[in-house]
Amino acid sequence: MLYLLDTANVEFIKKAYDLYQVDGVTTNPTIISKEKRPFKDVILDIRNIIGKDSMIHVQAVSTDAEKIVREGVYLKELVDGEVYVKVPVIPQGIKAIKILSSRGIAVTATAIFTPQQALMAAKAGADFVAPYVNRLDNISADGVKVVEQITGLFKTYNLKTKVLAASFKNVEQVHKVSLVGGHGVTVNDELFEKLIEHPLTDFSVDGFINDWEGQFGKGITTLEA
Ligand code: G3P
Repeated sequence: MLYLLDTANVEFIKKAYDLYQVDGVTTNPTIISKEKRPFKDVILDIRNIIGKDSMIHVQAVSTDAEKIVREGVYLKELVDGEVYVKVPVIPQGIKAIKILSSRGIAVTATAIFTPQQALMAAKAGADFVAPYVNRLDNISADGVKVVEQITGLFKTYNLKTKVLAASFKNVEQVHKVSLVGGHGVTVNDELFEKLIEHPLTDFSVDGFINDWEGQFGKGITTLEA
């Protein structure tokens, strides 16, 4: 199961890479625009923090295949290392995915709402597909079910494309995607921290420390006891 950060907030990315086993960062035009800094600076800062071997997914903003391909070639060169060009699954996007993948540029097909969109993108050569779980749940279309159907189709047809589920608003959605065999999730900063939080864990740790310090004294660790 891959865990990626769906954010361009460099402070959070630094913190998360320090604490957790993170597999990469995903961005989109909305996420980038929230940073209110030049695009290039944001992307290159992220690359510096995560290193060349960690994945970064960056979205092209054109809606015409030829221009998407030009952006893809540029982004591959600019970002360097493990980079995936995100392309929405509009018809011109599928054409661009075919061209980019034939040129050896890795692609993440995005803005996916149906299993057939995912299948078409996979056949066109996408490395990842990104179904939007919460946006599907918002229209009562069951985002997790869509993820399950996509992973099932990829297995049935022996496709190497991976499912990177996106658009989450709660831990339960992430958990259910992991239960149905989604290959990865990309999660925003606020929700990412919630994946590990539990009040009973904090309560238990406080209890251990209290009992230990009662016997051995404050600040004493197993090194000194
Ligand atoms: O990358 C796609 C994802 O960020 C969409 O998430 O929360 O805007 O639905 P959201």
